[in-house]
Amino acid sequence: MKKVSVKVCLGTTCFVMGSANLQELIEIVPAKYGNKVDVSGVPCLGLCSVDWEFSKAPYVKVNNEVIKEATVEKVLNEIDKQLAK
Ligand code: FES
Repeated sequence: MKKVSVKVCLGTTCFVMGSANLQELIEIVPAKYGNKVDVSGVPCLGLCSVDWEFSKAPYVKVNNEVIKEATVEKVLNEIDKQLAK
């Protein structure tokens, strides 16, 4: 089975908009999913500059799905969806 990849944006915009709270994913995800999911913090995903209002930060990518205004809950839901595929 392919691993699900989770990239938490830690770029400035996302960080200011709350991705600091998402860093707990880096502990929660391996505890919950073991090695089925790879989670890492990444520099700016380049999404904030497309969305000029910055209103949808913080962003997290789960495989190719971009999660806007990401919360721990939204990210976990998306991981479950991707694992169910
Ligand atoms: S800072 Fe997160 S997409 Fe740019």
